[in-house]
Amino acid sequence: MAVPPTSFSVVRGSVAATALLEDDGVDALAVALAPAGEGDDGAQPRAGATDAAVRYGIDLPDLADRHDATGAAGEVRTVHLPRALAGGGALPWAGLPSRLLLVGIGSGGPEDLRRSGAALARATQGLRRVVTTVGSDAGPDGVRALVEGFVLGAYRHPSRATAPSPPAPPAEVVLLGRHAEAAVTAAVTAAHATCTARALTVEPSDTKTPAWLADRAVALARAAGLETEVLDEDALRAGGFGGVLAVGGGSASPPRLVTVRYTPAETSRTARHVVVVGKGITYDTGGISIKPRESMVAMKTDMAGAAVALATVLGAAAAGVRHRVTAVLPLAENAVGASAYRPGDVLRLYDGTTVEIGNTDAEGRIVLADALAYADARLEPDVLVDVATLTGAATLGLGRQHGALYTSDDRLARGLEAAGLEAGERLWRMPLVPEYAEAIRSQVADVRQVPVDGWTGGGSITAALFLQRFAGARRWAHLDIAGPARATAAAHEVPEGATGFGVRVLMRWLGQLR
Ligand code: BES
Ligand code: MN
Ligand code: ZN
Repeated sequence: MAVPPTSFSVVRGSVAATALLEDDGVDALAVALAPAGEGDDGAQPRAGATDAAVRYGIDLPDLADRHDATGAAGEVRTVHLPRALAGGGALPWAGLPSRLLLVGIGSGGPEDLRRSGAALARATQGLRRVVTTVGSDAGPDGVRALVEGFVLGAYRHPSRATAPSPPAPPAEVVLLGRHAEAAVTAAVTAAHATCTARALTVEPSDTKTPAWLADRAVALARAAGLETEVLDEDALRAGGFGGVLAVGGGSASPPRLVTVRYTPAETSRTARHVVVVGKGITYDTGGISIKPRESMVAMKTDMAGAAVALATVLGAAAAGVRHRVTAVLPLAENAVGASAYRPGDVLRLYDGTTVEIGNTDAEGRIVLADALAYADARLEPDVLVDVATLTGAATLGLGRQHGALYTSDDRLARGLEAAGLEAGERLWRMPLVPEYAEAIRSQVADVRQVPVDGWTGGGSITAALFLQRFAGARRWAHLDIAGPARATAAAHEVPEGATGFGVRVLMRWLGQLR
């Protein structure tokens, strides 16, 4: 990670009584404000605010009012209290932190607390030690959201700029009150995993070749004590991965297929094996069916799915999830070259299925098909999930706030949707319209990669239908994250550029899976 991580601790106590605040190492005290309700004048004190008013001996509502504090989520007002003149009388708050942060918590629900956490992270950059009561009156979900928001909001993409980097987030945040400790730990784990995915996703593609990404995956997995396997070009050929080889064939940097396995320390009878397959196109030019130049710019992030799959297995291990989790990462660069695959080619994939290529820019479904077939044949998954920046059509339909979710399993759909709502990464279930399967029928092979007809539409649906046949009879879900994997502007806990979308929802879901 680019910046040293903040450490969180929970201290039981209150602003009214704690000796913590007399420590001069504390740079700021952050307390909560909620918006005015009907009949209130001005923002309302929440966790710690009334105690702070008493302890500091100040009219806090008046102070909030004069700083235009509204209590809205995402708003933080920093109040610098004056120091007494040397030789003058003592101020009532002498010896307490001179920076008071008024943190808006909105409704006080998880989504708003996530925003409060992100705003607090930004407002405390450059400070070392911050004490906050925010979230002390919230349940575990609220505390989890607050801390997740903080860590995600503190994240900065790694930078190669020679100019000095912006001030780091505080080294330490003390949560003063009744915050659930397990929720804090879960939040930090999920947020760190998300940051791992973000950092890999923004890495420029001149560095991020398939071999480089495979090495990074192995290094991260080994450090976490996980088993890994890397198939290079020769092993892919020997294994029959005709899709990964074709898509990666036009590049000077050959493809890889990485497997990372997490096995829980204790195996229970009800533990499942979840395999997460992530699309790992390290750069997508479109290949021979080359993209227009404007569409190509963001394509270094076309391995976001692989980053999410890798971060999910790392996060599952860090969280001690009770299920087995395996990440499968088909990694290839979709380049233009003399040995590139072409429209009209017929590929033979891992399971022997033949595929007629119609557009080399629909490369994601090809590498995923190989990896899904491999997972189905070799890994015995109870649930198979794939994550991919698969289609512009998904973005067109849903925009950037929702991932498109496909599955024919209603229970799996409900589990993922619920996890998405709780994690703040929303999924929207899309239909696997059986009639559209017609459009990917081929005259010369088992299946067409893309519809040729101009009238079926539903580009994200036909891609999902293509993938479905490679998941065999497994419980399977497909997440098309082409929209939410990248943000066009920073907002709350999400930075501009790579977002790491998918890690939090999958980790939540794994934590709740039975
Ligand atoms: N990586 C792209 C999808 C994409 C587009 C992701 C925009 C993020 C932002 C994918 O490989 C692709 O090119 N898909 C084509 C499929 C088409 C040729 C059937 C698309 O969506 O245009
Ligand atoms: Mn493409
Ligand atoms: Zn792509």
